[in-house]
Amino acid sequence: MRSVSFGPGFESWRDQARKLMAQGVPPEEVDWTDAAQGESLFQPPEEASIPTGTPAEEQSWRVPSAFVNLARMAWAHVDPRRPAVLYRLLWRLTRGGEPYLLHVPTDAGVRLAEDWRKAVARDIHKMHSFVRFRLVGTDGESGREQFVAWFEPPSRCVRLAVPFFVKRFAGMDWSILTPDECAHWDGETLHFTPGLPKDQVPGEDNLDALWRTYYRSIFNPARLKVAAMRNEMPLKYWKNLPEARLIPELIAESQPRMETMLETPGREAAPVPRNAYIHQLLKRHDEVFAETIPASSDLAALSLEELHKAAACCRACPLWEQATRTVNGEGPENARVMVVGEQPGDQEDLCGKPFTGPAGQVLRNAMVMAGLEPSDVYLTNAMKHFKWIPGAGRRRKHATPAKEEVRQCRPWVLAELARVRPAVLVLLGNTAAASLLGREVKVTQERGLVQAPELAERVILTYHPSHLLRLPEGPAQERAMAEFMADLTLASEA
Ligand code: URA
Repeated sequence: MRSVSFGPGFESWRDQARKLMAQGVPPEEVDWTDAAQGESLFQPPEEASIPTGTPAEEQSWRVPSAFVNLARMAWAHVDPRRPAVLYRLLWRLTRGGEPYLLHVPTDAGVRLAEDWRKAVARDIHKMHSFVRFRLVGTDGESGREQFVAWFEPPSRCVRLAVPFFVKRFAGMDWSILTPDECAHWDGETLHFTPGLPKDQVPGEDNLDALWRTYYRSIFNPARLKVAAMRNEMPLKYWKNLPEARLIPELIAESQPRMETMLETPGREAAPVPRNAYIHQLLKRHDEVFAETIPASSDLAALSLEELHKAAACCRACPLWEQATRTVNGEGPENARVMVVGEQPGDQEDLCGKPFTGPAGQVLRNAMVMAGLEPSDVYLTNAMKHFKWIPGAGRRRKHATPAKEEVRQCRPWVLAELARVRPAVLVLLGNTAAASLLGREVKVTQERGLVQAPELAERVILTYHPSHLLRLPEGPAQERAMAEFMADLTLASEA
């Protein structure tokens, strides 16, 4: 049995796992010890640190980036089983000959890691929503105001959550203090220090009052749903929120305020022309494809489930022939945000779910950082089948769909749009934009908000995550990534 000690950071586990892998140590021979628990004090030093394998050994296996992304998020969970569970997954994926393991959601290890990832993603989202900065002073030298926030996330997600604050509050000096780890930004650099007890956090100030005013102004009594509010703003976070003190008062006031709102004329929501426009477009398609698309007499009247079944029978273009399966959209039917990509890739084609491959991981992580929980978003593609050409070895290389193919697949994504009716529509890349906007579009020229009120209240055009992956590492990639994050943040704030 090999006793291996790990520190709190993901990198500590990753380095140890790499060495173990290089030496071919199977998971059942590893006993993971949390160095923070002090148990490693009794270990001989040579056991705590493992010698690396030879370069040849290290090169003999490749770790899929999807696993690294999953493990990085899952690591932030506090479940003590994670070093062993993640190492076993890594082993099975690489040396164990199960390269598609991550697409087996019923596997106990995969399920556990996914549950941890989701829990951490939720904590990040809550942190983005509920961190409130207080003004604590001004730096004597620079004259810059300094802000501090106290937060108690259930997981160790500070490092995963802070890029959002760096972007959002780039121009101010701030610290986010948590019991586990603290993050500090001085306008240029981000650094981390150990966690703090709450009694060392500076007290209330005028920003708290500002938050309360803001919350009062956005509070809409007609939308008052106490259970949903509790869900969105769980009680454990209330104690640190200045506006939370207002909630009982606002709830008590809400009934009379709602009655006043109902009595005020002109408050009825205006009829939304969006679906009419989409129905019209679909009708035109129906005439063209009445013979090839089943149930096409009124696609927009189908439920998502019926629509997905119908899309699986589509023979309007020849792409279905070489695809393993139809990859339909996924997500809640009442999602506020819908994201449209180009087409399923190699992995999506095998597992049947959108955005599960490397580009999908980039998208999902960026969404979490921007405050969008992927499971709350309807994710889909302009094309429902994978178009590919043979690549090196068993690899299938993505091929860009032809204009005509995009046009032929358009009814499906339009019908999804008509059914979901999101407030925010995010188009990833030129193909999604061409499909939904019905014209040729260059993302590099039109990135950001685009005018298409017939599709959704807010339509945002941004890069396709594969484009970000293809850019060489360096300033161009960093800039594009920052722009991508800004666009997703725009979607999340809507
Ligand atoms: N790229 C896409 O556009 N969609 C997917 O589902 C995966 C990769």
